[in-house]
Amino acid sequence: MTNWDQRYQTGDMPWEKGQPVPALLELLAKHHAWGAGPVLVPGCGLGHDARALGVLDIPVVGLDISATAVALAREFPTTGQHSFEQGDFLDPEWRAGREFSAVWEHTCFCAIDPGQRADYAQAVAGCLPPGGLLAGVFFLTPHDPGEDADGPPFGVTIDELDAWFAPAFERFDGWVPRAAFPGREDREWIGLYRRR
Ligand SMILES: C[S@@+](CC[C@H](N)C(=O)[O-])C[C@H]1O[C@@H](n2cnc3c(N)ncnc32)[C@H](O)[C@@H]1O
Repeated sequence: MTNWDQRYQTGDMPWEKGQPVPALLELLAKHHAWGAGPVLVPGCGLGHDARALGVLDIPVVGLDISATAVALAREFPTTGQHSFEQGDFLDPEWRAGREFSAVWEHTCFCAIDPGQRADYAQAVAGCLPPGGLLAGVFFLTPHDPGEDADGPPFGVTIDELDAWFAPAFERFDGWVPRAAFPGREDREWIGLYRRR
C-alpha cells in the first residue's frame, strides 16, 4: 500500500503539475450542470482542481487522505467557496450524513489499489443523491508498453469503468480530452455518469 503522506513529505509526487488538469477546464467550458453543490474532489492533492471548480460559485470540498497534502492545499490563495479536509474517501464513516451534488474524479481512482474499486464505487454512490453527477478523467493506460506496470497509477478500461459504476450510475457521455499533461495524451478518458 502506498504511504501517500510520506510521498508528500518527501516531495515524491510526480503527479503534481502545479495546475488543474486540462480535461477539467475542457469540461467546465462544456458542462454546466454540477448542481447546487457542494462538489467533492476525492484525492485532491494540492487542490488545483478544487480551486478551478471555484468558478462554479458553489461550495467545493477537496478531500485527501494525506494531512500534508491538505496542509499544502490550504496554503494557496482562496479562489471560490472551497475547503479542504483530511479523510479517507473509502471510509463509510467519513461520508455518513454527507451529500454532494457532484463528484470530480482525477487520479484518485487510479491511485487506490484495484482491489478497492468496489469500495470506491460504493463511496461515490453513497455521497450522491439520485441525479447526482460523477464526472471524472480516468487514466486508461498509464504505462508505456513494456514498461514496468506496477502501480499506482493503475489503468482501467472504459468497459471496466462502466461495469464498476453500473449498479448505481448511468453513463451519459464520454470522450477523450483534447488536451492533456505531457505524457498523458490519448491515455485519459472523460466519463460522465448520472446517479440513478
Ligand atoms: C496520484 S495522487 C493525485 C492527486 C491530485 N488528484 C492530483 O492530480 O494532483 C492521488 C491522491 O489521492 C490521495 N488518496 C489516495 N487514497 C485516498 C483515499 N482513500 N481517500 C482520500 N484520498 C486518497 C493521495 O493522498 C493523493 O493525494
